[in-house]
Amino acid sequence: MRTLIKNGTIVTTEGEFIADLLIENGKISQIGNNIPASDAEQIDARDKYVLPGGVDQHVHFSFEFKGARVKGFEHSNAAAIGGTTTVIEFVNQEKGKGLIESIDKYKAEFAEGIAMVDYAFHGVATESNEQLWKDIPNLPEAGYPTMKLFMAYKGLPIHADDEMILKSMQLAKECGVTIMTHCENADLINLLQQQLVDQGKVEPYGHVLSRPPLVEVEATERAISIAKLAEAPLFIVHVTTKGAVDAIKKARSEGYPIFGETCTHYLLLDKENLAKANFEGAKYVCSPALRDEADRNYLWKSIRNNWLQVVSSDHCGFDFATDKHLGKDDFRDIPNGAPGLENRLGLLWTYGVEKGRISRQDLVRLFSTAPAKVNGIDYVKGSLEVGKDADVVIYNPQGEYTISAESSLQGTDYNSFEGFVQKGRVETVFLRGQKIVDDSTFVGEQGQGNFIKGKPFGLAYH
Ligand code: URP
Ligand code: ZN
Ligand code: ZN
Repeated sequence: MRTLIKNGTIVTTEGEFIADLLIENGKISQIGNNIPASDAEQIDARDKYVLPGGVDQHVHFSFEFKGARVKGFEHSNAAAIGGTTTVIEFVNQEKGKGLIESIDKYKAEFAEGIAMVDYAFHGVATESNEQLWKDIPNLPEAGYPTMKLFMAYKGLPIHADDEMILKSMQLAKECGVTIMTHCENADLINLLQQQLVDQGKVEPYGHVLSRPPLVEVEATERAISIAKLAEAPLFIVHVTTKGAVDAIKKARSEGYPIFGETCTHYLLLDKENLAKANFEGAKYVCSPALRDEADRNYLWKSIRNNWLQVVSSDHCGFDFATDKHLGKDDFRDIPNGAPGLENRLGLLWTYGVEKGRISRQDLVRLFSTAPAKVNGIDYVKGSLEVGKDADVVIYNPQGEYTISAESSLQGTDYNSFEGFVQKGRVETVFLRGQKIVDDSTFVGEQGQGNFIKGKPFGLAYH
């Protein structure tokens, strides 16, 4: 099957130009002017932008928090209509097992035959057992070359201590596995939480008060120190605050391979949302906590200047009415995380490009190219280049739309960006040459997403 996207503005990390793009056998086969392909399906992209399909490297389709579990791959069509064609999911190491067996099992049960976009996995180390240490050198072979460690969440099975982080890094660097850390000081948070609860402060805003920027900055600096000790690269996920960005910047300026991402909610949502009445603040409970305007401005500057390399959604599909209400009487029991998979491109376009905070070239880099490189899938994903998978988004910059849970495919009963105005829309999306979004409507099929093997020695090693 051949498809010719005609006269669109092709956007790359380096520039943009008007051209035709030919798709053949699921791959981009030509980019140029007046490509002769009269037998191909013709799509007019005049006055529209042609972008590489997004890679969302921070998605939770299996996250559990004190008995609540997020919605999974059955809602991955939300990624598609938001212009994301590959998601990378965090899979926990199961108790008594290693990482490879845990991910293989999750893949077979919860992703294959269900996913509506392509997908890859990060392992989450939860238990320091023999199999974990045996598995790390074999992660690249299995196609899982990235691994997350949670410095936060004391008392939950996912928490990892410094010893576990150092040992993981020592093994990982030998085989090109990229270690990712969630940087928050779990002990400090635990004490601050207890003190608030003892004072009767059990409302959602306690989440903000118990997770001030310094608990993130301290853990970020510690993770960087551990990486220096291990002489290993490090990728820090969901960076939210100036102090943490500065720690990463400083380390990199000294020659250490330390990189990071932020997420759409940290760029756009204020911590005061957690003070909303009627328990509405619980909708905004995510970790690290939301910050203030000064931090948000600094994050925009950081992504423009490549101090942080990636913008992810950190999508976590909990419902408000049920899941979030588990913490009705104690903010510590509110499941952490917020949905946002569907809105990453529309938000970056509207509040980044349209507001002049980032260029379209930056957008492509942050939304697609850099996350593909971080995760070793850039051999097929992340850019509009001949020979790569034909994961292509046509973005129509005309029109204004209002984000709402009602019209969303995320499957959650709320949207963190409810009421936000979006300029333009994702009009058409191709996944390996198959049209999966047409006129902003999902037209793909369940199960059409493929597992994409990641290769080791991703961007953090360069
Ligand atoms: O609050 C968040 N981000 N929940 C998801 C788990 C995590 O820490 O990434
Ligand atoms: Zn995290
Ligand atoms: Zn997360």
